Amino acid sequence: MTTVLITGTNRGLGLALTRRYAVEGAEVIACCRDPAKAHALKELAASSRGRVRIMQLDVADEASIASLKLALGDQPIDILINNAGMSDPSARSADRIEAETWMTTLRVNALGPMLVAHALRDNLRRGSHKKLAAISSNRGSTSRAGGGNYAYQASKAALNNGMRALSRDWASDGILVGILHPGWVRTDMGGGEVAFVSAEESARGLIRRIAELMPTTSGAFQDYRGVAIRW
Ligand SMILES: NC(=O)c1ccc[n+]([C@@H]2O[C@H](COP(=O)([O-])OP(=O)(O)OC[C@H]3O[C@@H](n4cnc5c(N)ncnc54)[C@H](OP(=O)(O)O)[C@@H]3O)[C@@H](O)[C@H]2O)c1
Repeated sequence: MTTVLITGTNRGLGLALTRRYAVEGAEVIACCRDPAKAHALKELAASSRGRVRIMQLDVADEASIASLKLALGDQPIDILINNAGMSDPSARSADRIEAETWMTTLRVNALGPMLVAHALRDNLRRGSHKKLAAISSNRGSTSRAGGGNYAYQASKAALNNGMRALSRDWASDGILVGILHPGWVRTDMGGGEVAFVSAEESARGLIRRIAELMPTTSGAFQDYRGVAIRW
């Protein structure tokens, strides 16, 4: 059975990815910041016949990442998906730069995925698929970026850069890296009904892209439909 670890699974895209992988027969280690309040995820886990296991993880907290690693021990992980992310409206304008908000955004969106990947590198090495995916954003594309959303764009560009580098440095371990834009998705972050894609459709596409990952495409930046995105 394929084992998938996903971050930020209590709502939005992370919840949809968890549901879809469980339907497809995978065992999902579903991480979230506050399991006690993760009602939808707990319901999903209860009806999953043991396929979904919930674990606490705050990707901005090194102690939380260390606890997760301790709890997992040497358990092989086939697919690790760094999905958790944030976009704070107060860091979208060039008129006011709030250092604290910038640092939190960079910590959650760029540093967190690097720390989680680093902590679980050996678990991935022990897995049979050896796939590391980052849910990025087309906002992280420097050539495509419009104005606004400064901290978020910078954080996703940094995420892309780090993941691209890992695709090179960890190739000798056989680890393949996917850098994926999920589309404009109907989640809290995507802004609800105005967004183009449902979380379910995006999750299906992302899962397909991750399944198709191979050495020649490792480190590429593409969307959930497989369309390449310029850096
Ligand atoms: N929706 C879109 O249109 C869109 C477009 C491009 C990229 N993305 C990316 O897709 C990913 C998922 O976004 P979404 O649309 O599902 O957003 P969402 O509905 O706002 O969900 C964000 C998830 O990330 C979690 N999270 C935030 N900070 C965390 C932390 N420090 N530690 C652990 N989990 C944390 C949240 O948990 P809490 O409930 O505890 O806050 C929540 O589960 C993000 O990386 C986002 O940047 C989304």
